[in-house]
Amino acid sequence: MITYAEVPDDRITSDYLGERYNIAEAKARVGIHDRFIQFTKHNAIDAPALFDEVWEFYRNVGVTSWQSRGRLSLYGASLYYNPAHDPSMWHLGSFGTPRFSNLPESEYYNAPVQVEKYGGGKADYIDPYAFRKQHPFIAERLPNLRAFFESFNFPVTRVTARTLNGLFNIGGGYHIDSKDTFSIRLNFCLSTNGKFGLSYQNGPVVMFEPGDAHMVCTARHHSAYASERCNFQRTNLIVDVIPWYDYDPILDGWKPNQYFGKIHPYDMVEQGIVTFG
Ligand SMILES: [Fe+2]
Repeated sequence: MITYAEVPDDRITSDYLGERYNIAEAKARVGIHDRFIQFTKHNAIDAPALFDEVWEFYRNVGVTSWQSRGRLSLYGASLYYNPAHDPSMWHLGSFGTPRFSNLPESEYYNAPVQVEKYGGGKADYIDPYAFRKQHPFIAERLPNLRAFFESFNFPVTRVTARTLNGLFNIGGGYHIDSKDTFSIRLNFCLSTNGKFGLSYQNGPVVMFEPGDAHMVCTARHHSAYASERCNFQRTNLIVDVIPWYDYDPILDGWKPNQYFGKIHPYDMVEQGIVTFG
């Protein structure tokens, strides 16, 4: 096991684990898997109940615009946090970063996956595994969200609630979320009016219905999408799932699980090995 405390300050936790456990060889064994359309499941969650609790969270804990942009078109909150951060940061820590706020558009969208160029270690916004604890307000006051997160049979990390304001132009911010296809990012739609979805650059648009679960192909350039400006605010939950490591919350460390190097993370979702709800 490798604990968070052991990860050097200037390293990303998942990169450091990957180096120590030779994930390069494990990835080579299962191969790349980068189809545009990944797993989609309708009626995967109780969208109205989770929607109400997300808005309880916004109202009681706080809400912010995407911190690296500060625009009115996207706001929300981090629902999981890094315990190394001050509690005042817990609902903000993974919701963009002021560190990238002055980057030009041409550099901005790929900065999170270029640690060598833009810096940032394990206490930074760009370290997904570090946002590993559920916000205490959820445990105390939001039973449906709590039960939903605890229903995952793999470690959950860096969860955010994101609300798009349809009054603004949505889309075109094509970016990747990770350097390769070995991260699982699930997108759960809590509310929509039929005009919102996810667009892949030079690829398809996936439209969402409330209750949908969709797995994002994180290494393909993609963007939030709305077919037109509208008087509606769309809310989604974004949940990162760790496919190849067990996480021990007491020791605060990770170790490879039985799927490490055996089956591609996307196949784990498509074959029903990763379950939730
Ligand atoms: Fe993304």
